[in-house]
Amino acid sequence: MANNMQIIFNKDERATLYKVLAARRDMRHFIQGASVPNDVMDRLFEAAHLAPSVGLMQPWRFISIQNEQLRKDIARLVDEEISNTASEIGVRKNDFLKLKLEGIRTCAQLVAVVLAPDDGTLLGRRTLPLETALCSVACAIENMWLAARVENIGLGWVSLFDPQKLGAALHCPKDALPIALLCIGPVHEFYEKPMLVQEGWRDEKPLAGILFENRWPIEGEAK
Ligand SMILES: Cc1cc2nc3c(=O)[nH]c(=O)nc-3n(C[C@H](O)[C@H](O)[C@H](O)COP(=O)(O)O)c2cc1C
Repeated sequence: MANNMQIIFNKDERATLYKVLAARRDMRHFIQGASVPNDVMDRLFEAAHLAPSVGLMQPWRFISIQNEQLRKDIARLVDEEISNTASEIGVRKNDFLKLKLEGIRTCAQLVAVVLAPDDGTLLGRRTLPLETALCSVACAIENMWLAARVENIGLGWVSLFDPQKLGAALHCPKDALPIALLCIGPVHEFYEKPMLVQEGWRDEKPLAGILFENRWPIEGEAK
């Protein structure tokens, strides 16, 4: 990977980055039985590891799931949480249950992302210790997501699980916190829009409604 920080990006390169950002999608439909070459997986992990982190904590840990029985156990944990969510979601329960929210059983590679036990870093974390560590892990996952997209590989972020149960299944230390299950693999096609939009679950917010100046707007105030 290039390490020359004096690079000046040209117009085409800029356009490519914005194209990648717009083309990234959370994927839940994978080509069953497909694989991801090892060198691609290596690049995804390297991309993740380039992420910024509070105080340079680099608190992300990745556990690649290679054991088929473990994958089945994890899939069951996710099923369990989907049904727990369904029982709390209220009037939209039936719509919720129609959504495809994970591709654990069919993706080529399954990776658990774990927040490492706190190493005591104070720099940048005094007032928001857990939040800044979590944000750092999220930065690593976003890097991986974008890298997967340019490799034309789908990645889906799954957070529907009980972290205690997943931590136990992965033999994580008591103070580690599983944050995400990443389903990674070749896909038939990338969704045009977020799946939740395509399925009519929710619409995207326009940028204009979330970009403020100087203060949080008063309710009903014209932006
Ligand atoms: C922290 C986080 C957790 C998520 N967990 C899930 C999940 O458990 N299941 C799922 O289907 N999508 C999950 N997603 C994906 C979002 O639903 C998706 O990013 C959003 O609908 C926008 O779609 P897009 O990523 O294709 O733009 C998660 C995304 C984030 C950032």
